[in-house]
Amino acid sequence: MTTAPAIGQPLDRVDGRPKVTGSARYSAEIPIPGMTYACVVGSRIASGRVTDIDTAAAEAEEGVLAVLTHRNLPRIAEQPPLLPSLAGSAAPGQTFFPMQDDVVHYAGQHIAIVVADTWERAQHAASLLRVTYAETPPVVTLEQGRDQAYVPDHIFGGFLPGSVERGDTEAALAEADVTVDATFTYAANNHNPIEPSGTTAQWDGDELVLHDATQGVNATQITVARLLGIPLSKIRVVGHFVGGGFGSKAMIHNHPALAAMAARYVGRPLKLVLTREQMFTSVGHREEQEQHIVLGATHEGRLTGIRHHKLSPTSHFDDWAEPSIGVSSELYACPNFDGEYRVFRANTMTPTFMRAPGESSGMFALEVAMDELADELGLDPLELRLRNYSEVSPASGLPWSSSGLRECYERGAARFGWQGRDPRPGTRREGNWLIGTGMAAAGYPVAPPANPQRARARLYADGTAVVQAATPEFGTGVATVMTQVAADALGLPVERCRFENGDTDLPNIAAAVGSAGAGMISAAVHSAATALRNQLIARAVGDPRSALHGANPIDVVVRDGVMTAGTATDGYAELLQRNFQPDAEASGAWSPPHGEPEYGMMTFGAQFAEVAVDAELGLVRVRRMTGAFAPGRVLNTKLARSQLMGGMLWGLGQALLEANHMDPRTGRWANTSLGEYLVAVNADAPDVEIELVEVEDDVVNPLGVKGVGEIGQVGAAAAIANAVHHATGRRIRKLPITIEDML
Ligand code: MOS
Repeated sequence: MTTAPAIGQPLDRVDGRPKVTGSARYSAEIPIPGMTYACVVGSRIASGRVTDIDTAAAEAEEGVLAVLTHRNLPRIAEQPPLLPSLAGSAAPGQTFFPMQDDVVHYAGQHIAIVVADTWERAQHAASLLRVTYAETPPVVTLEQGRDQAYVPDHIFGGFLPGSVERGDTEAALAEADVTVDATFTYAANNHNPIEPSGTTAQWDGDELVLHDATQGVNATQITVARLLGIPLSKIRVVGHFVGGGFGSKAMIHNHPALAAMAARYVGRPLKLVLTREQMFTSVGHREEQEQHIVLGATHEGRLTGIRHHKLSPTSHFDDWAEPSIGVSSELYACPNFDGEYRVFRANTMTPTFMRAPGESSGMFALEVAMDELADELGLDPLELRLRNYSEVSPASGLPWSSSGLRECYERGAARFGWQGRDPRPGTRREGNWLIGTGMAAAGYPVAPPANPQRARARLYADGTAVVQAATPEFGTGVATVMTQVAADALGLPVERCRFENGDTDLPNIAAAVGSAGAGMISAAVHSAATALRNQLIARAVGDPRSALHGANPIDVVVRDGVMTAGTATDGYAELLQRNFQPDAEASGAWSPPHGEPEYGMMTFGAQFAEVAVDAELGLVRVRRMTGAFAPGRVLNTKLARSQLMGGMLWGLGQALLEANHMDPRTGRWANTSLGEYLVAVNADAPDVEIELVEVEDDVVNPLGVKGVGEIGQVGAAAAIANAVHHATGRRIRKLPITIEDML
């Protein structure tokens, strides 16, 4: 038996066995008698109109139940609303809903759905559709759209302003002793979770059940209810197992609503799963972009001004840009900051959250520019960062709720062996390999949810407990860590606690996004479990047959399900059984404080990388990576390391591999498969060292959890690019860095 505290223990995943044995059921694996299969068809053109869809051949095929196009798909009840908040609200991926008219805004836009009694028949029939188009030239690339770019009022679903400024950056840069002026370009990136997005829809009269691969079952519920114009009480969304999301399942794209509409149309349960290729055009992406950084500093290396501007394509309907300048404005003590987003209307779907959305791309630019500044000044890159260390939030002037950045620098550098580094580029050589090291800082904001987060805890008379919250488990380890949180709050061994989740019938939880899941869900679970423990203690001290009768409740401690005050004890199970109560239950809720913020809230880290570059072939290999992170309280060291390592290795992929290329003539993505869109695999993965710097934080949430989902990726690509420069003397300001760039 594991005794308290369970929090922090490297507990194995509670969902590990069902996942590796194949007994876990994902949203497209729900067996329902009479199931039908929907095949979605995407537009082959990127701009223009659908002039005709000849459905006769498809409809004549055996087993085909329906062919839905803009002509016969029911109209939606309301336009998808602009995302006001991710918590407890609709969260459509874009404000456009397809198949409501004949206009084509982007390649891959859903223009038809074929439903048949088998997936193969649906797919075959879909291939028989004869679609004719009136095509207009698309605008897709930065070069095509640059001249039409504008600064939007807001970006990122309305969350953030299109520009921010403090001080007088213009003057600061003009008067600076030293400046660095650099432009960075980025390929578009796509999420490729193992499980593609998909929804199984089943109607029973006017009641709808959706099994959806989502990061937020409540978000799916509210979004689909609004699009279909049905009451929330008539729709239940279930998602017990989700095979990765990375932001592709954070927003609710149109396929769950389409699945519900198609299922109602054919009057049978229906399964709609996006193909791997459709994952590149249906669930958002990280936009192609260009970032321009100007740093001004004194001879001593103190930053006096930072300008960080970004240009990127957005859709015809939404002003989206991932917030790449946010961390730049918060990382260093610099009085003058000028940040701006420029977007242009392009033939693309609205881009979306993708792991460390904005933070990872923005910190590539800032942290490579900082490396260039260190070079200019003849300063060690780590020393330059320490000279600009900020004890408060530079944007607001407020104190940090917690930081730990200095410890990350120190412990990361020590573990990596940074000290004594020869700063001269191109001086270390092993055979054909040029060796170099680089580092970067990392920051990721701590965003509290807007709505109360709720959970429920129930203890049974056999002494086991179930704790419930709606959140899906999309691979983060939430089900495991919530078991640990509940166990400690209840005073039970983890073996006797179970976490139930992934269902809108359970207490509402916001979508798990922004690395905020562990913090907000642990707050709700801790609150519910603590309320239940206090309730049971109160019953015991009020029970004349309890040895604890008359004790002061605050003197009672609980361990392994046994309540103890001094020498008197009573068990949870005994208490319930003695009173013929099958169970006891309590709810808990947590709301982040409202009103004016009193603290800046960021998670910090430091990244170090060593690369080897083949001088003749241009091949870049990452030989080791060390990351030091201060994510507040760590709920499970094993899972936290896994999350951080996954983020760092994704940073490697971002640095050297991941790119979706747009064909500027057709407006279509050129490499929409895992064969051609390259992600890091085991053969690319170097030794990764993780240093966990635990910092106490009693502001962010009750358990002081700042989150580990995304910070691991931030700065990783910059550390690698800086190491490439150190190895070769070549400064590459582009992602990914490919062999061609090195020749
Ligand atoms: Mo994450 S990119 O906020 O789902």
